[in-house]
Amino acid sequence: MTMHEKIKEAAARYPDQRSAIMPALLIAQREHGHLPGPVLEEVADILGVERIWVYELATFYTLFHTEPVGMFYLQLCDNVSCMLCGAEDLLKHLETVLGIKKGDTTPDGLFTLSTVECLGACEMAPVMQVGDDYHGTLDIARINALLDSLRAMAGRVAGVEHASAPSPGE
Ligand code: FES
Repeated sequence: MTMHEKIKEAAARYPDQRSAIMPALLIAQREHGHLPGPVLEEVADILGVERIWVYELATFYTLFHTEPVGMFYLQLCDNVSCMLCGAEDLLKHLETVLGIKKGDTTPDGLFTLSTVECLGACEMAPVMQVGDDYHGTLDIARINALLDSLRAMAGRVAGVEHASAPSPGE
C-alpha cells in the first residue's frame, strides 16, 4: 500500500479531516524517516486541509521530526521529577559518551539526542524515550548498557542488510 493509500485509509475513520492530521503525519514519518516541507505539503494535499495546519502540528510535537534524525532518537526528560533524580548529569554523560550536544546527531547516524518535557512516567524518573520505548530509573550504568544494546541492535540490522544485499557480479 502506498503512503497515499495508507493516509486515505486512516483518514476515513475521522469525520473531520483536520483530526486525521496526526495519524497521517505518523504514517508519513514512518515512510520517510522524517517530515521535510514537501512531505508536509503532500500530507496536506492528500487530506485536503490547509498546509499551515499540517506545519503547525509537525513543528509543535516533539514526536515529529522535520529534520533527519539518527537511527535511535534519544529523548531524555528534563522536567522536574527527572531533573531531581539526576537527569542533568545523565544529559552531560550522554553528551560526553556520544560526543555530541543536545539537538545533534552522531556522525555515524546512530543517535540523535534531545531533551523533552514530562513523558508522563514520573514514577520511573529519570526517564528517556528511545523510539516508542520508555527506559526508566536510569543511572550512568543503565545508560551505558542501553547504548551498548542499541549499538548491538544497529550492528545486527547492518549485518542482515549486508547479508541480503546482492554480491558484486550477482
Ligand atoms: S518529569 Fe520526567 S517523566 Fe515526568
